[in-house]
Amino acid sequence: MRAWQLDDFGLKNLRLADRPTPRPQEGQILVKVSAVSLNYRDKAIVDGVYDPEKMPKGLIPVNDAAGVVAEVGPGVTEWQVGDRVLSHFYSHWLEGPPGPDEPDWQLGGPLDGGLAEYMILEAKSAVPAPANLTDQQAATLPIAALTAWFALVEYGRLRPGQSVLVQGTGGVSLFAVQFATALGARVIATSSSDDKLRRAAALGAGDLVNYRTHPDWADEVLRLTDGRGVDHVVEVVAGEGLNQSVRATKAAGHIALVGFLGGQTAPLDVMPLLYSQAAIRGIAVGHRRAFVEMNRWIEKNGLEPVIDSVFAFEDARQAYERLEEGPFGKVVIRVGDEDQ
Ligand SMILES: NC(=O)c1ccc[n+]([C@@H]2O[C@H](COP(=O)([O-])OP(=O)(O)OC[C@H]3O[C@@H](n4cnc5c(N)ncnc54)[C@H](OP(=O)(O)O)[C@@H]3O)[C@@H](O)[C@H]2O)c1
Repeated sequence: MRAWQLDDFGLKNLRLADRPTPRPQEGQILVKVSAVSLNYRDKAIVDGVYDPEKMPKGLIPVNDAAGVVAEVGPGVTEWQVGDRVLSHFYSHWLEGPPGPDEPDWQLGGPLDGGLAEYMILEAKSAVPAPANLTDQQAATLPIAALTAWFALVEYGRLRPGQSVLVQGTGGVSLFAVQFATALGARVIATSSSDDKLRRAAALGAGDLVNYRTHPDWADEVLRLTDGRGVDHVVEVVAGEGLNQSVRATKAAGHIALVGFLGGQTAPLDVMPLLYSQAAIRGIAVGHRRAFVEMNRWIEKNGLEPVIDSVFAFEDARQAYERLEEGPFGKVVIRVGDEDQ
């Protein structure tokens, strides 16, 4: 099979190679990949800044994949050839609290991922694709959508009428806008670009703050919420900005700590957090049970992911470059011939 493999860190070391097509072992399925989508972590892995010591040489990168079951291994009863499936990032985390070793079982690094014509999934871990989405659309869900869902619905218990602050217009944030809007929440979105803010408004964001022209964006959020702050923050930035998020959060509100676009350490002012009694909750994508529930909800509510661009398999490196440019919507790579 043809597969992109990362021989060493750096995009120039991502190479299209010929590899033996893997055979499914006990409890596994072989998936013919139709499409994958890129996340921030995929770029961070190539750049050698995401758990570099854990990434094997020759890794097939990228978790988020949609495809069709091509072969089932011995003992598999969950799937049949032809079923449409999605990869599940924390491939051993099925339900309940995470175990201590979940990161060891992340697809797309340290385990091989989906940027190849075929990939192996655990039968118990693979997830049915929503029937209302094409494979290219469905390939955007495994990390970005599930993370937003886990932050707002699984842990956040978002209720209609509550308010949600969404930072920037990256993959996680746009799904958060879409979920929160559809669930009846008020969405405040930030971005570095007025044009992207207008597009976020079209997805449902009712209040817009440009964080470039308003570096003290928490003041704007407080102004928009009569000084109270929001019920939920989907925190994808962290770093120095975490203190602004605490200020922008309602008393006893919920900060879902998702990302580190602003830095992997955060100097936290303790007293404001203590007085506000807000909860900061770490988020690690989500478990399979929530993924299945989210997909049912997506089917029922007809949610369609925002796709920025679709690249041919041979142009995978250009897809990574597009991610670097700050797209509006997900960057997808077509692997198979059809988009079913
Ligand atoms: N914990 C988890 O489970 C989990 C899951 C998924 C992602 N993540 C993390 O979450 C973060 C976002 O991931 P993603 O895949 O959604 O990224 P992405 O699609 O690459 O998002 C990039 C966008 O983030 C916005 N941004 C960048 N710096 C910002 C800043 N200082 N303030 C506000 N917005 C900023 C920009 O939006 P504008 O162009 O609109 O300004 C940029 O276009 C990353 O750190 C990623 O590793 C964590």
